[in-house]
Amino acid sequence: MRIGLLTGGGDCPGLNAVIRAVVTKGVTVHGHEFVGFRDGWKGPLEGLTRPLGLEDVAGILSLGGTILGSSRTNPYSTDGGVDLIRENVQRAGIDALVALGGEDTLGVAKRLTDDGLGVVGVPKTIDNDLAATDYTFGFDTAVGIATEAIDRLRTTAQSHHRAMVVEVMGRHAGWIALHAGTAGGANGILIPEQQFEVAEVCGWVESCMARGVAPIIVTAEGALPSGGEEQLLAHGVDEFGHVRLGGIAEWLAEEIEQATGSETRSAVLGHLQRGGTPTAYDRVLSTRLGLNAIDAVHERDFGMMVALRGTDIVRVSLAEATDELKTVPPERYAEVAAFFG
Ligand code: F6P
Repeated sequence: MRIGLLTGGGDCPGLNAVIRAVVTKGVTVHGHEFVGFRDGWKGPLEGLTRPLGLEDVAGILSLGGTILGSSRTNPYSTDGGVDLIRENVQRAGIDALVALGGEDTLGVAKRLTDDGLGVVGVPKTIDNDLAATDYTFGFDTAVGIATEAIDRLRTTAQSHHRAMVVEVMGRHAGWIALHAGTAGGANGILIPEQQFEVAEVCGWVESCMARGVAPIIVTAEGALPSGGEEQLLAHGVDEFGHVRLGGIAEWLAEEIEQATGSETRSAVLGHLQRGGTPTAYDRVLSTRLGLNAIDAVHERDFGMMVALRGTDIVRVSLAEATDELKTVPPERYAEVAAFFG
């Protein structure tokens, strides 16, 4: 078979490890050949390809980002987009596609499967918000980076007797905030799944200050105060139509300083969480997902996504995979509340 590979949506550490696994096993075990599509769905849409052989994937296991490039292009927003993809895929002699992505990229993969193309999906996102898999690769790396940042912010905050509000990514899911906040011993964690009361957060800050602890409040970029509107924190929309979030930490730091009188600073970790080398956990998960994805393609088991369930890699339908977002359940959030304040 001749197989096209693409990576879509926000990049994340581990994408190259998947590409390496798919191509290595595909060539050496199954005897397939590969074509790389550049920049997510833009590649098949505009016929942008690059060679993808064993020599191209050598040494990329630990490399962050994606050698294929990425974009948030949605072919269903382009008139005749599906027909263009079909034509370009046929012209390149492609029998099947492997799409690495999150809810958007895999949502397109599902629709293309319905439209008759052979696609297998691999779940990626630092947000860990895909429902059909226990974990997505990139998440462990992002949590590690955020945790290290919290550790570092804690020592400077403690030296200056300041409160610190740390903003992490995650869009509409609070997984990064929950895990990094827990690992970093945060004195408050705010997630999009539950609106927060500014007065309560100020109470946490005051009780920390009263016992000589410089409080660290970790907030997800999508967290909102009670009655708050997402629009207040939105900076336009991306190519896929999602609001671009950011600014809650700066806003909250000012509120805390005004209400408590404690000097308060904010730090936004932003894309630092997505860059650089994947952790060992993410390298292993990416590699296993890649090895299983190429088996699914080889068996022509299209319309499926490989997923982690417990310690097993299983196949689930793309329909199930893109059905709903996996958000933080209230009981998981309640569990860590004992550390707040
Ligand atoms: O979905 C991954 C993610 O990093 C989100 O956590 C974040 O909201 C968004 O992508 C940022 O997107 P961009 O790289 O387009 O600014």
